[in-house]
Parts: sequence; C-alpha cells; structure tokens
Amino acid sequence: ILAIWHQLTKTEIPELTRVSVMMRERSRVEDTMYAMQKAGAGSLQVISDFDMTLTKFAHKGKRVPTTHNILNNKLLIDDDSTVKMKELFNTYYPIEIDASLNPEEKLPYMVEWWTKVHDLLIQQRIRKDEMARAVRESNAVLREGCSAFFDCLAEQRVPLLIFSAGVGDILEEVIRQNHVFHPNVHIISNYMDFDHTGVLQAFKGQLIHSYNKRAGALSHGATLRELHGQPNVLLLGDSLGDLSMADGVSTAQNILTVGFLNDQVEERKESFLNSFDIVLLRDETMDVPNAILRFIV
Ligand code: TMP
Ligand code: MG
Repeated sequence: ILAIWHQLTKTEIPELTRVSVMMRERSRVEDTMYAMQKAGAGSLQVISDFDMTLTKFAHKGKRVPTTHNILNNKLLIDDDSTVKMKELFNTYYPIEIDASLNPEEKLPYMVEWWTKVHDLLIQQRIRKDEMARAVRESNAVLREGCSAFFDCLAEQRVPLLIFSAGVGDILEEVIRQNHVFHPNVHIISNYMDFDHTGVLQAFKGQLIHSYNKRAGALSHGATLRELHGQPNVLLLGDSLGDLSMADGVSTAQNILTVGFLNDQVEERKESFLNSFDIVLLRDETMDVPNAILRFIV
C-alpha cells in the first residue's frame, strides 16, 4: 500500500506532498480517493463552505472580507454601525476560532454575534439595489484556482452545494461577479428579506451560524435531495463546524474532507488533524482541491 501511495502522490498528485499538506491517516485518504475515482464524476458531489474556504483568508497582507463584512461599508450603513460591526467582529471572531473552547461552549456566542449583526443590518435599512456595488467595491477575492474549480465541476456536471453561514445574497453576487455562478451551484445560506421598496426588513428562515450547520443540513432536505444520486462527497471547510455540512446526505458512501487551517494554526493543528482527512496549512490556493478533482473525474 505504501508503494502505491508513493506512486499516487509522486506521480498523480504531487500537490499532496507539499509541506503545507497534513494528513492523520494517509491510507484512508488514499482508499477514499481510489473509491471515488472508480465511481467517477457521476457519483460525486462537492459540499463547500464559502467564507475563508472558497474565498481567501488574506490577500496582499490584508484580511479578505467575509460576506457579512462586505456589508460593513459606508455605502450601506452609517459610520456608527461600521464601528459597531468591527467591534462585534473583534469580540466574537476570537471566540469562533478559540482552540480551548468546544463547539457547544461557542454556540451561544455565535447566536449572539449573528443576531446582533443581523439586527444592526435591519435597523440600517440596507437597500437591495446597492449590494452589487458594495461587492464590486469590496476586496472580496476567491482563492487562486477557484474559478477553475467551479468551471471543472460545471463541465463534469458535478453538483456543488455551497453551505454558508454568511449572507446568501452577497455570496451570490460575489460568485456572479466572478462569472462562476453556474447551473450546478446550489446554495444554503442566510438570505435577506426585502420589502416591496427594496429595503431589508428581515432575514429568511432559520439562522445559520458556524456551529449549527448540522441542523441546516437536515432541515434543507429538499435542496439536498437533488444531490442524493451522488454518494461520494468532497467536503471543504475552514472550521470544525463545517464538518457537519454533509449530515443531510443520508446515502453517502465515501466522504473526503479537506480543512483550510488559516488562522491560529499551531493552536488548532491537532484538532483539525483529528477531524479533517486533509489539512492545508496557510494555503491561499485551490491547488489541492483542484488536484483531487482532477484525480477523481
Ligand atoms: P461561512 O459559513 O461561509 O464561513 O460564513 C461564516 C463566517 O462569517 C464565519 O467565519 C464568521 C464570519 N462572520 C463575519 O466575518 N462577520 C460577521 O458579522 C458575522 C456574523 C460572521
Ligand atoms: Mg468559513
């Protein structure tokens, strides 16, 4: 098996030998990838997180805005609110990634964060027709090689479910402006509800935050049912909470999980290695997911 693996990594997937790539159990990754390759593109679906997974963590030395943070723009909200949103980020993001707290301990803080931000956005009466401009003026940027990833999935007719605790309307605009909103893309996220004049009045449906994606995966059964013909899942995320995104796929046969470890790398390395099959350390590219995809399809 080691000899085969050696061949697999060296010749077919050299990307997996990079020092930024870590695996707890190489043999499991290998077995899963061979099983997925055997079943082919027709059996595959991809389930991915959005913020800091399909988008970069940092670009040119600056943090890349999440979909919520794209809304933190003077075009859309007043000065006091931009300060408030930044303060909320500085309070709650460290809790979200704190290696010393477990998901159950983080959960109430995440609900608080999302609730406060959504209430603020509603109070600010955000206008639907300003959002495309806010996205255009933002520094949102997809990972290097991300467009190729989207394009390959579309060509191969592999469904892509983007499962995001961000803001769905903004997410859609980001991928539209990057010309990758292909017909195989499905989205589960927090969507805005606008009144008849185009002003934000509420968020639709049940709130999705970083640590309740399991509930979202199960309750969005209808969306996921379209994906039930594909028993093999490639899952991409940047948070331990993202691992439950595939919980709605009851017919899953093989699941390969890839975790982008962007921040608090040393502190979180062990827990990521125990939870994701492949862990990518401070990797701002889609090179590894693209290589896996090339191998499977
Ligand atoms: P994701 O599920 O697409 O990764 O989106 C959730 C991310 O958004 C999560 O890492 C926390 C982040 N976030 C902000 O950056 N600003 C906010 O105001 C909120 C509520 C979340
Ligand atoms: Mg994320």
